[in-house]
Amino acid sequence: MTRLTSFLRYISRHAPTMARPAATLRTGAQMPLLGLGTGPGSVGSWQTSTEPIYEAVKVAIDTGYRHIDTAESYADEKAVGKALQEKIGSAVERKDMFITSKLWNTRHHPDDVLPACQRSLTDLGLDYLDLYLMHFPVAWTRGDVYYPKDDNGRAILCTPDVPFMDTWKAMENLVDAGLVKAIGVSNFNISQMEEVLTNGRIKPAVNQVESHPYLVCSKLLKCAAENDVVITAYSPLGRPGEAGLHGVTPFKDPKVISIAEKHNKTPAQVCLRWQVQRGVVIVPKSVTPARILENSQIFDFELSAEEMETISGLNKDARIVKFGMCDDHPQWPFNGAF
Ligand SMILES: NC(=O)c1ccc[n+]([C@@H]2O[C@H](COP(=O)([O-])OP(=O)(O)OC[C@H]3O[C@@H](n4cnc5c(N)ncnc54)[C@H](OP(=O)(O)O)[C@@H]3O)[C@@H](O)[C@H]2O)c1
Repeated sequence: MTRLTSFLRYISRHAPTMARPAATLRTGAQMPLLGLGTGPGSVGSWQTSTEPIYEAVKVAIDTGYRHIDTAESYADEKAVGKALQEKIGSAVERKDMFITSKLWNTRHHPDDVLPACQRSLTDLGLDYLDLYLMHFPVAWTRGDVYYPKDDNGRAILCTPDVPFMDTWKAMENLVDAGLVKAIGVSNFNISQMEEVLTNGRIKPAVNQVESHPYLVCSKLLKCAAENDVVITAYSPLGRPGEAGLHGVTPFKDPKVISIAEKHNKTPAQVCLRWQVQRGVVIVPKSVTPARILENSQIFDFELSAEEMETISGLNKDARIVKFGMCDDHPQWPFNGAF
């Protein structure tokens, strides 16, 4: 028996007992609070192979995950799709899975939205998505190059510009066509989210933003709660080792470590528990079976109000994912409040 097989046997004995709490979207759909991230790490980098993601999705489903977060720009939808096809109909039913994908910056032109969504569906082997997000509020030049850059390394923007509300209207049509159950945004600051809430025929169900104990986003959470928008935290572990946080990892923070010791949990589990306990959906990424399991074991303990406050107090407004190559665009979000 391989180590992976015996590990899967171990988790299949434990997974059924794991609670799977969910957030209720404005559509009435249940979005599991825990999802598996499948992103590639640094912006613009890709996995040298998508095989680890294919294996990770299968392990995650066997571990009890029912929510997978992917995107066209991760260039792994075929691998995610292959894993889903192997599990749907045997280990799980489609209706019990929640699948999110995202419309990339080079697909903002209204004529490109439907084909992009259809391509994601084909690659994933699905006939609908549970959630489709506009990945970022700035339109880049149309085409199949994911990171179109000029000689100075700046993103080549879409000319003429496509305001994100034009893109949003095309995404609303995807809901009408039954291709996606819900639509939302990602990396939108408070005023951008409010613009979609005010002007959208269909209101955004979700805003997916970077959040971890060093980027708490309390203003955004308050605004989202008042407007029935669910927040998903990406990079919820602070992407350990990433230069963006100067090698600092929230789960290596002494205060997080001390809380973890008190609960006999790992610091990573404390970072994830803090998010779900404040109603935030999390999509930690791991291709390591033991970590996929570890990150799911967060529904059997509770942080005290004081511990919740201590973790929120670690905020440094430290952001990893900056999309700095278009930071001169008026809709670059990170000048605004989160
Ligand atoms: N909307 C957006 O613009 C956007 C941007 C970035 C990310 N995302 C989404 O959010 C997901 C997660 O974000 P992320 O990948 O940037 O960061 P993250 O989940 O905070 O960190 C992922 C890294 O943490 C490691 N890790 C996972 N669990 C661990 C544990 N328990 N202990 C120690 N290390 C652990 C993983 O290593 P191993 O894989 O080697 O185990 C991986 O290197 C992405 O995959 C993607 O789906 C969205």
